[in-house]
Amino acid sequence: MIDPIFAWIEAERRRQAEGLELIASENYASPAVLQALGSVLNNKYAEGLPGKRYYGGCTYVDEVERLAQERLKLLFGAEWVNVQPHSGAQANAAVLLALLRPGEKLLSFQLAHGGHLTHGSPLNSSGRLYTVEHYGVREDTYLLDYDEIREKALKFRPKVLMAGASSYPRDWDWKTLRQIADEVGATLVADIAHPAGLIAAKLLNDPLPHCHIVTSTTHKTLRGPRGGIIMMGKDFPNPLGEKTPKGQLKKMSTILDSALFPGIQGGPHMHAIAAKAVAFGEALQPEFRSYAQQVIRNAQALAQALMELDYTVLTRGTDNHIVLVDLRNKGITGRHAEEGLEMAGITINKNLIPYDPQPPLITSGIRLGTPALTTRGFTEAEFRQVAQWIDQALTNLANPEKLNAIQAEIRDFLQSYPLPYAPITPAALPAEGRV
Ligand SMILES: Cc1ncc(COP(=O)(O)O)c(C=O)c1O
Repeated sequence: MIDPIFAWIEAERRRQAEGLELIASENYASPAVLQALGSVLNNKYAEGLPGKRYYGGCTYVDEVERLAQERLKLLFGAEWVNVQPHSGAQANAAVLLALLRPGEKLLSFQLAHGGHLTHGSPLNSSGRLYTVEHYGVREDTYLLDYDEIREKALKFRPKVLMAGASSYPRDWDWKTLRQIADEVGATLVADIAHPAGLIAAKLLNDPLPHCHIVTSTTHKTLRGPRGGIIMMGKDFPNPLGEKTPKGQLKKMSTILDSALFPGIQGGPHMHAIAAKAVAFGEALQPEFRSYAQQVIRNAQALAQALMELDYTVLTRGTDNHIVLVDLRNKGITGRHAEEGLEMAGITINKNLIPYDPQPPLITSGIRLGTPALTTRGFTEAEFRQVAQWIDQALTNLANPEKLNAIQAEIRDFLQSYPLPYAPITPAALPAEGRV
């Protein structure tokens, strides 16, 4: 018998193969990325940075990390990078630790309008350690209002201005944000966890020339392993103004490196860094740009098809991979929609819409994303069909037979769009995987 753990992994592989994956933050990493993740690099301790480790035996992992750094620099045109954050949350925590002392001020995008917990939520260390104010979107357009951000910044005088979102379907104006940051003497941090792959493909505004520091995850539109990164377009002096013993300004990169390790992390995950390097290599290929273009086209086609079916798509479309739907005109909550769609084989997440009258565990909206199904080969035509299935499921939430029938139809349909992951069989497992 196979160890139940491998049975559950196989069950999850099948779930991924047989259902429509529309969670905006998910994607299907390539078999090469997964191979690097599951490699012997897992066994290696390598505290420190290439060439400056606290452990022996780092010759090969040094090469791995250097390659990851070089590819990432090339991908985004960055002058400096750190590829060690275990995740997006760690990247953000390290950057804030580098820039702020406890109690100092952070201005960021409101969680309830699409921001992220790590941008100053009271539930996250960022909200507990720093003094936080938020900007949001306008109630009439659901768009960012840069005049409002400027006004808030002038009044609050933050030390860090943070931008970026988990659910905002439009592009960001980094240049204007930098002007605002400069007006108040703030350091501008962009968190591009969601659109990173689309930015790498040069399809959205590039934050690197404007923002002092850029953080990201590597597993969403960038399609790599779960992980984080920190980048700078160009080095700049230590905004804390501390002098080194030689009287020189300490370089920001050194401060960021040490905020991550030993500031908040221990040994880097070298297997994850290798997998990041593989993913950056994939993203540097011309095919990745075509993929990213298709992600956006698909999101626009999905938004359009849903609007034609009388769904309220926030901002009436999208610039990126995200489609936000307000379900109030349909009399359905986000939670009810999420549950019903899952029964139909469609995975999405309920999502607060800005100014939502419902609490976070219920919500009035849903968030849809196109990165995963685009990896599977879906184009606009398939996404118009996805809109039909969503509508059929949402109009039959009280009809389990109909939901089951949609699920069966989707399972059949997806046989033409296979995933490249081999099933786990007893024969394919090492002896320790059997019990
Ligand atoms: C904007 C943003 N930043 C940071 C994160 C955190 O990333 P992770 O889940 O890898 O810690 C996310 C994850 O959803 C995100 O959307």
